[in-house]
Amino acid sequence: MAHEVRESRLLIVGLGLIGGSLAAALRDAGFEGEILACDPDADEIARGVEMGLIERGDTRLATLLDGVSMIVLAVPVLAMREVLEALAEQGVADDPSLVITDVGSTKGAIREAAEAAFGRLPVNLVLGHPIAGSEKSGVAASDSHLYVGHKVILTPATTTAPSAVARVRALWQAAGAEVLEMEVERHDQVLARTSHLPHLLAFSLVDTLARQDDRLEIFRYAAGGFRDFTRIAGSDPVMWRDIFAANQQAVLAALDDFEAGLARLRQAVADGDADAMLSTFDRASHARRYFDSLLNQSSYQAEYQMQEQATLRYRAGPGGEVRGRIRVPGDKSVSHRAIMLGALAEGVTEVSGFLEGEDSLATLQAFREMGVAIEGPHQGRVTIHGVGLHGLKAPSGPLYVGNAGTAMRLFAGLLAGQAFDTELTGDVSLTKRPMGRVADPLREMGAVIETAEGGRPPLNLRGGQALQGITYDMPMASAQVKSCLLLAGLYAEGETRVREPAPTRDHTERMLGGFGYRVEREGDTCWLEGGGRLSAAPIDVPSDISSATFFLVAAAITPGSDLVLEHVGVNPTRIGVINILKLMGADLRLENEREVGGEPVADLHIRHAPLKGIDIPVDQVPLAIDEFPALFVAAANAEGVTRLRDAAELRVKESDRLQAMADGFAVLGVEHRLYDDGIDIVGRREGQDDEGPSYGGGRVDSLGDHRIAMAFAVAALRASDAVAIDDCANVATSFPGFIELARRVGLTIEAQQEDA
Ligand code: S3P
Repeated sequence: MAHEVRESRLLIVGLGLIGGSLAAALRDAGFEGEILACDPDADEIARGVEMGLIERGDTRLATLLDGVSMIVLAVPVLAMREVLEALAEQGVADDPSLVITDVGSTKGAIREAAEAAFGRLPVNLVLGHPIAGSEKSGVAASDSHLYVGHKVILTPATTTAPSAVARVRALWQAAGAEVLEMEVERHDQVLARTSHLPHLLAFSLVDTLARQDDRLEIFRYAAGGFRDFTRIAGSDPVMWRDIFAANQQAVLAALDDFEAGLARLRQAVADGDADAMLSTFDRASHARRYFDSLLNQSSYQAEYQMQEQATLRYRAGPGGEVRGRIRVPGDKSVSHRAIMLGALAEGVTEVSGFLEGEDSLATLQAFREMGVAIEGPHQGRVTIHGVGLHGLKAPSGPLYVGNAGTAMRLFAGLLAGQAFDTELTGDVSLTKRPMGRVADPLREMGAVIETAEGGRPPLNLRGGQALQGITYDMPMASAQVKSCLLLAGLYAEGETRVREPAPTRDHTERMLGGFGYRVEREGDTCWLEGGGRLSAAPIDVPSDISSATFFLVAAAITPGSDLVLEHVGVNPTRIGVINILKLMGADLRLENEREVGGEPVADLHIRHAPLKGIDIPVDQVPLAIDEFPALFVAAANAEGVTRLRDAAELRVKESDRLQAMADGFAVLGVEHRLYDDGIDIVGRREGQDDEGPSYGGGRVDSLGDHRIAMAFAVAALRASDAVAIDDCANVATSFPGFIELARRVGLTIEAQQEDA
């Protein structure tokens, strides 16, 4: 057996479900010693023998003690005293070859009974409690798997012999349990909340209903909810009477807390306070799911990490045409901000078109963990019950934002001014990205932030700091840094001014304006004054131009293509890709231009036309910062050379995008030259026809970067052979449903799940 139990003869006192199941588990595990049982009910003993669980038994304890090496006390808690007294009379205390343990659900009362019976706590007595059971009772219900994967808590005293503890540990491990140690008092408090209280409630609810005259009717119609909630009301009444008597103080404390919570909910129901109800249910529902993931031995975070380990590979076939009319998912930047400002606003914010990608969902989840009630998303609709700028609550653990750089940097700003501490963590890719760019100016504002080495995540933000507005000259053109400081500025005294070296996306400024918060701009500087308030406003999130880009390029490079992308956000700070593609000769038109919720949108109509290489204007770089992986693919299909400079920021995105694209191009045979801050890409030779393949196929690595993965999927349209792309799971961060949409317009692409 895996955990060797060397006991020669085991005596179980009290042969019910718990003792019987232990015997069954030991038998299954190949235990070679003898198992005896003592029980006041001779029938139970006879059944135990019949079932092959025990060798023999008796109703009298004294007759069974001879040669026993371990005694397991499995009688109801209040019966323990009598048994312990009987053992004391037999002089078993402190016999080093004999170990006594128990399975009682409360430990303080049993320790007291032992001290009374023996005059002190014997060194060979190890109190324990298997956290397993069933509403069934009696030896007939024994189950050899009852303890598998369950916890057994041992509560040894400082005087308990370590060898005795080790033997009891081995016993439970052999039964398949995980053994841990705890102090008696802590055990009793924890169990009062997690086990005793729910049993009390189940007994009480069933009893209350059963007393009502129409109980038969009620029970007849009671379905799943009632059954799930009350299963444990079928448990052994004597055992539970004893537990509540023995753990009285801890149970009363747990019950007081519960009553206070119930009273709050009662009030919410009485007042028709939908927000209060929703936020309680929402918190509970997420806590329950979190608890589930713990039970499945994986935390939220571990689940994410497991997802990361299972890699997804794309296989994109060569050739095809790109045709149709599609709508890509909502804008990632706007989706993050909609949740953030909606949560901090006063009133209810209705969002439509929300991107249900992992990045923006991480932001949503983080606010739930800070006590914000959020309904949805349901088909892009989210309802946020704003708590006001000062209404967030301390989360119970670190806020995990996955792959989302935008979430981490914007959160850094808005959490720097909160009253509570927070820790921001992310996935492997995010952990490598620079956060000093936000931590440094936030510190200038008075924030207290610790980062890991090199200014990397995790970020630890100390709450309760008084922030001061600053004037900040950004060293890089970054909308994330600008937005971070503006959000911190909401909590700062005085004005927070940010100067940007080149225009970057201005969704934060626009949306703040839409929520009634004044943001000023003059030239390259924008600013706001702290201490105001946000009022909820509806938000219609346009389709993400960064996601649309993959299809723009797909149609632009593929002969015979004609595609319309509907409702795309064409904010002037985001249309670098449109400008660049047009400069390259793309046949691209904006149709049906309009404005929704403060953001301009249009349908983008693109047809294939031969492209030519260009020197990308430096002022377009920040306006197309996320679009370069796809634009490089356009360049590889354009006639002549395309040159990009002043784009070192690409090296600190979800991957080093200059290097990742260059490595992939090397595989496909696309000529290129890499620079510190850019790349030259050599496309078709002058006069070479634009019909045949532009390069070869092969296997490339996306490095877990969603945009690299999608760019190479598009590149396959003009490859001579298939392109296999490794590590594509993160496409789900920004573009859920990419493969289905890509297939719909004519790409040949499959995803295969593989273990790393
Ligand atoms: C974003 C800003 C850009 C962009 C990112 C989203 C935003 O990052 O690359 O995908 O939502 O503010 P930088 O601010 O680092 O340039």
